[in-house]
Amino acid sequence: MLSREAFIRISLEINLFFQRIMKEHLFFIETNLQPVEAANIAKANALKQSFEQLLAETVIYANGAVSEQSIKSNQFVTPYTLRAEEVNSRLTGASLNTAITKAELELVGNLKCNYEEWLESIVWDLNTRSLCLLEDVIAFQKKLMALSLQCKIFIALYDEMLEHDTREAEYYLEILKSLQNRKVLKKTLCKELNFWNNIMGEHAQFIDGMLDPTEKALKEKAEITAEGFEKLVDECIKLAEKQILQKSLEDTRGIIDYKRTATEGLLECEIKSIIPPLLADHVLREANHYFRLLNMLIRLEQKK
Ligand SMILES: [Fe+2]
Ligand SMILES: [Fe+2]
Repeated sequence: MLSREAFIRISLEINLFFQRIMKEHLFFIETNLQPVEAANIAKANALKQSFEQLLAETVIYANGAVSEQSIKSNQFVTPYTLRAEEVNSRLTGASLNTAITKAELELVGNLKCNYEEWLESIVWDLNTRSLCLLEDVIAFQKKLMALSLQCKIFIALYDEMLEHDTREAEYYLEILKSLQNRKVLKKTLCKELNFWNNIMGEHAQFIDGMLDPTEKALKEKAEITAEGFEKLVDECIKLAEKQILQKSLEDTRGIIDYKRTATEGLLECEIKSIIPPLLADHVLREANHYFRLLNMLIRLEQKK
């Protein structure tokens, strides 16, 4: 059973991270559907704005209530997020609420929060509304996936990416459901690590597939990175907890460096690709989130 303080803090941290992730998936869908798909473009835009509305509220209540560590982990925003949003919004014509990002850059950690009852009910309500919206988003993404697989729509996103994004949404849904029952989602170590190691490996594959064929060095690095994460998934059950955690941490540190360099290179227009800078920053934040999770799991393992 989570204490009131833990329920509030963990819920706000989870929502700060995932609400942005969800609205960006919708932005990528909105901007990669073809003009003939006006209704689905409008639907993606509406769902994106609904998540932006929730995120804007979360930021207000998170200020002073989330941990300093979670802010410093660069999982909510990075030093590149605002610029990447400005570039992508300008180049696509689709909206992104940058006022939220600016507010997030000013977030402070838990200095003055008393975690009172009124905040608990606000957070409960935020979680509930996120859950409802998430169910709509998952259904919408699954519908698009089916249409794309039947070649009834053309979307310039890999089917695997739509599936990957939906898996992330379902993971978030599971976390929210357990939080509403005042519990932290408990999974076996391999189930947790394999989820994220698969996600990280797929990011490397997406980057590989979206880089210009002439970007040989970056493509090669992406391929090696993807293989490394595949190996971690295969090895998980064979290795001791300590070993798999350390190896995952090392590979994640590696992919963070790679994604950071890629985001900088894309923003400076030094890399040829069809990767939107905001997608590079998005996968960087996901790696930063996983890196913090790994560090927490390592601390728990050391206490055993
Ligand atoms: Fe994502
Ligand atoms: Fe992802």
